[in-house]
Amino acid sequence: MIRHTITLQPLGKNLKVNDQTPLIDLLHEFGVEFPCGGKGTCGKCKVRLLEGEIEVNEVHRKKMEQLGLPEEWRLACYSSCTSNITLEIEQFNHLILADETEFDFCPRQGFGVAVDLGTTTLVTQLVDLKTACIMAVETLVNPQVKFGSDLISRVQASLDGHALEMTQMIRFAIGTMIRQMLKNHSAGIQKVVLVGNTVMQLIFSDCDVSPLSAYPFHTTNLGMKSFTPSELNWNFSVSESIIFYPSIGSFVGSDILAGIVATGLHQKDEYTALIDLGTNGEIVIGNRDRIVCASTAAGPAFEGANISMGMRAVTGAISSLRLENDQIEATVIGNTSPKGICGSALIDAVAIFRRLELVGIFGEINSGDEFIYLGGKVKLTQKDINEFQLAKAAIAAGLAILANNLSIRLADISELYIAGGFGNYINIDHVVETGMIELPAEIIHKRGNTALIGAKMFLFSDHLNIYEILAKTKLVNLECDSSFQDIYVDKMLFLK
Ligand code: FES
Repeated sequence: MIRHTITLQPLGKNLKVNDQTPLIDLLHEFGVEFPCGGKGTCGKCKVRLLEGEIEVNEVHRKKMEQLGLPEEWRLACYSSCTSNITLEIEQFNHLILADETEFDFCPRQGFGVAVDLGTTTLVTQLVDLKTACIMAVETLVNPQVKFGSDLISRVQASLDGHALEMTQMIRFAIGTMIRQMLKNHSAGIQKVVLVGNTVMQLIFSDCDVSPLSAYPFHTTNLGMKSFTPSELNWNFSVSESIIFYPSIGSFVGSDILAGIVATGLHQKDEYTALIDLGTNGEIVIGNRDRIVCASTAAGPAFEGANISMGMRAVTGAISSLRLENDQIEATVIGNTSPKGICGSALIDAVAIFRRLELVGIFGEINSGDEFIYLGGKVKLTQKDINEFQLAKAAIAAGLAILANNLSIRLADISELYIAGGFGNYINIDHVVETGMIELPAEIIHKRGNTALIGAKMFLFSDHLNIYEILAKTKLVNLECDSSFQDIYVDKMLFLK
């Protein structure tokens, strides 16, 4: 397999990738945003080619012309790696997005650090507070994955006597990432902002997670948490504050609060929805007056859990499927042979199976076979399709119940944003075709890592009143809603 070296400036980061790897596969891990979801219309993913070649096909050329991009620029969402290249990432030069428009910030002295503490992945960005430029980025798999990939197994590990170990482990990992980012920079850190789900917040903060292990799965310890570097055993100074932002509820954390701020949902007159398809699946609907949110059990299936050949959106995962001349064609992350299937392709597969009438209204494989091949040795079993039905019904039912809670119709939602790990790869038409989101495709947008965008905005945001947002946000327990079972069962069907 031919490999290339990609250098990202101004970070000075070198990455080794397979030939033909799409740039989007590399860059979204570093927190680069793809605001129009790779449609080539926003131009915000533009990169400057400093060295090497990136081939430009006719569609790419046309998009560049429409956006008035000079010769040496490329749209990352249309580019693949075919040689050794050096790129300047334009977004690292002060683009912070809020609701697809650039966020106004008050320049300050020193550096800030934004941390997205995910159940699976950790991302840190070092931000120059004077210019809002990204000076360095680090990503790491959360070392707690050795205790299990989902939240329940982390809570269980905590109860089994590993609580302190997990706290020390995560504090050490994030401290090391920050130290690594500071290697080439002498200015001091003013502020560190962390966001993450409630379980991650409690473990980082050395708080008891046991209330989340048993009915009614409720903790009151949701507030903002502040630390000093010495409390965290970090051997660098932070002059102003280290803050873990507050959670909204027991299973809706500050990552969703950051998502609300990143999408500007709390400032709009019209109702807007946000769905974060991470390890947990959280749903928010709201406007400037009222916000309701809920957590669903949909996330794990989209991260590969309970799917026989499921995996996260990493190298070797089939990330998308399409129909060409009635044949199913697969795209594999990292342009390598397929090892499994990630959430976005799971949605594609079911939508295509329905279109080809391979799967019936109840999710049954019409031929009576136990599985259907997708590409290479990767296949989807009857049980996988049923798992998908449970996950898509959880999202569809969650949206319906939250809309009921606000006494609005789904049709009253003017825009819906999809955030989360595999959001960049998702085919919105397929999402709609499977009935997972019962809204027109035109109002559904991909927003990438809204938790990280929000955390970055918090670095500048003394004026943002987080408590005002929390005060108008209501957490809804979906399972306690009397209509939940009926709606949930109904949403499992494929009615299109
Ligand atoms: S042009 Fe919008 S993401 Fe590339």
